[in-house]
Amino acid sequence: MTTLKGKVHYVGVNDRVKTLFEGLWPLPYGVTYNSYLIADDKVALVDSVDVNFFDLFLEKVKGILGERPIDYLVINHMEPDHSGAIRLLRKVYPDITLVSNKKALEMVEGFYGAGAKTLTIAEGDTLELGHHTLRFHMIPMVHWPETMVSYDITEHILFSGDAFGCFGALNGTPLDSRMDTSVYWSEMERYYANIVGKYGAPVQKALQKLKALDIEMVCSTHGPVWTGENIARVGGIYDRLSRYEAEEGVVIAYGSMYGNTLQMAETIAGELAAQGIRKVVMHDVSRVNHSFILADLFRYKGIILGAPTYNASIYPPMEMLMSEIEMRDMKNRYLGYFGSFSWACHSVKRLAAFSEKVGFEVTGTPVEMKQGMKEATCAACRELGKAMADRLKADR
Ligand SMILES: Cc1cc2nc3c(=O)[nH]c(=O)nc-3n(C[C@H](O)[C@H](O)[C@H](O)COP(=O)(O)O)c2cc1C
Ligand SMILES: [Fe+2]
Ligand SMILES: [Fe+2]
Repeated sequence: MTTLKGKVHYVGVNDRVKTLFEGLWPLPYGVTYNSYLIADDKVALVDSVDVNFFDLFLEKVKGILGERPIDYLVINHMEPDHSGAIRLLRKVYPDITLVSNKKALEMVEGFYGAGAKTLTIAEGDTLELGHHTLRFHMIPMVHWPETMVSYDITEHILFSGDAFGCFGALNGTPLDSRMDTSVYWSEMERYYANIVGKYGAPVQKALQKLKALDIEMVCSTHGPVWTGENIARVGGIYDRLSRYEAEEGVVIAYGSMYGNTLQMAETIAGELAAQGIRKVVMHDVSRVNHSFILADLFRYKGIILGAPTYNASIYPPMEMLMSEIEMRDMKNRYLGYFGSFSWACHSVKRLAAFSEKVGFEVTGTPVEMKQGMKEATCAACRELGKAMADRLKADR
């Protein structure tokens, strides 16, 4: 058991079993479902855990409380990775009062049934626990409509829900000051790009609102508890990503069954490097899980996509990636594209339609290759690479 600050204990759990978060995103380092127990004059749990971890969770809670009941369950976010335990919690603690905003409590009823004791709170309302007092602030669409944060006025702790969360289980302690945090930074960017990525504007609004608070500890629902200078670092990452700000560099995401389209990608990469672009990342859309590609697309300013024609359309994993990019409302990117075919080209047309839809700045002339590589195609690929390099260098 870990006491964090004042009467707040960490009672979250590690999930080292789930292979794909949301059935989509791999978890090479696992993930946590963080829950916080405030054992004050009144007892409050802030968020809970995935239902599969209820036994372990209850053991942790009872290890601190013994047979003392829980007065409140504060629900910052209703997604089942944090709310799945509600039904069982109500069985063990029939008098528990669920505390959240109107939208969240309607969702609770929809997912877990009616009949719970509830306390509906709104922006700025407070809940007195004794030593600690919680104040609630709505942060809608980060990344669900009912999301809010709970701010502990006494100890300056922000219980932030999914905001400022990251993938990665905890190795012995939740406290950033007692661990090597290096693994979590790239996992935070991948978490943001995949889970929160679409909601840049709401994240910006939330950051503006939270700026007014004096925060000494951030307790999110995934990953370490952040303190000290890490609070600014975490806020900076969420700020940069939600502005869709990117650094100089190019992601070449390609599909290729037999290696012909890959040769185009290699040629473009070679020219980018020759032109002095140091950060060139190549991703095979079939082999690399798209969560890693999307994280790199959030990081770099240049995007070059290429795929073969497939059944009078485009190679399916590229179709999937295009849809994932569209869904995230990404902004401020330079886009180049290319494709191949054997008898009638459709892939480049599909990429052109994508480009119009997302509104990225088209950079260079798209390249279409019939069958194998020839000198003219090779030159066109080099030109595409050079055009992207020139565009990026113009921003230096
Ligand atoms: C299942 C399948 C469907 C294909 N459909 C088309 C098509 O509709 N039109 C076309 O011109 N080429 C089509 N092709 C051919 C590929 O686009 C072509 O062979 C290309 O060179 C493959 O690029 P790669 O070597 O990078 O895999 C198809 C290939 C496969 C395997
Ligand atoms: Fe969530
Ligand atoms: Fe979550």
